[in-house]
Amino acid sequence: MSLQDQKQIIKQALKEVYEPIELNSLIAILMEHITGYNQIQQAVNKAQLLDKKQETQLTKAIELLKLGMPIQYITGKAWFMGNEIMVNENVLIPRPETEELVEWVIEYANIINKPLQILDIGTGSGCIATSVKLALPNCMVAGLDISEAALSIAIQNANKLQADISWMQENILDTAYLPNKFDIIISNPPYIPFKENINMQVQVKNFEPNIALFVTNEDPLIFYRTIARLGKQYLNPNGQLFFEMHYDQGKALLALFDEMGYHAELKQDMFGKDRMLRASLKK
Ligand SMILES: C[S@@+](CC[C@H](N)C(=O)[O-])C[C@H]1O[C@@H](n2cnc3c(N)ncnc32)[C@H](O)[C@@H]1O
Repeated sequence: MSLQDQKQIIKQALKEVYEPIELNSLIAILMEHITGYNQIQQAVNKAQLLDKKQETQLTKAIELLKLGMPIQYITGKAWFMGNEIMVNENVLIPRPETEELVEWVIEYANIINKPLQILDIGTGSGCIATSVKLALPNCMVAGLDISEAALSIAIQNANKLQADISWMQENILDTAYLPNKFDIIISNPPYIPFKENINMQVQVKNFEPNIALFVTNEDPLIFYRTIARLGKQYLNPNGQLFFEMHYDQGKALLALFDEMGYHAELKQDMFGKDRMLRASLKK
């Protein structure tokens, strides 16, 4: 069957599941993954026949898309800060708001303008650590995660992009020790209370790793409190904590950091929602 005919088949199969604009974009990405043709090449080669292997790949992908699997897990690729990175079901698919967090960190580090020690806690795919290292090559960057499978992806991403990073496998909720002091600690920790699970998209709750997303309803700020506690011991003088956060937790987080002896400020994302926080110890 030709490339064009295959596109029609995918459209038919998925039209009840995805909105037309999203579906067109999914089809283009999937076809690029399977044929290696970009969108223009797909149009030029629309009469080309797919081979058996490509057809089997497509059939499998359609089934997964029907179930709601994010296209990034099907292709194994996502984009972050202009770089293509590898993803699988062991890591969160990087989000645009996390790019805004990274931009904030880079902006701050450029003002300080000296080699800094930087740690990314809950590194997942390594998207934050890798982007920070590429933008700030004179800084020492480390990435930490509880998940061995996530760290394996982070290491592959860093190696592919030639970012020299040191890695640690650690449960941050259960460690009182970091190997050295840091000028910047960044974290996009799990922060969604389990009770919000019912309102979440199938693509997220059924496919992205629970360990990357959820915290208990009873203590949704546990990662922030733990990292703030570690920061007291492991931040260098004038050190800064940078976090991504739930849009709804700004007030509670400001109170928590104040109580723990930090000055903290919130930052809004491109949609005007509180999505980032920066904190430094009070003098
Ligand atoms: C929201 S994801 C962030 C992933 C990546 N940094 C990003 O921004 O896309 C949170 C990450 O924290 C990790 N994590 C969860 N619990 C942890 C713990 N107790 N100690 C260390 N890392 C943990 C998860 O494995 C996951 O990779």
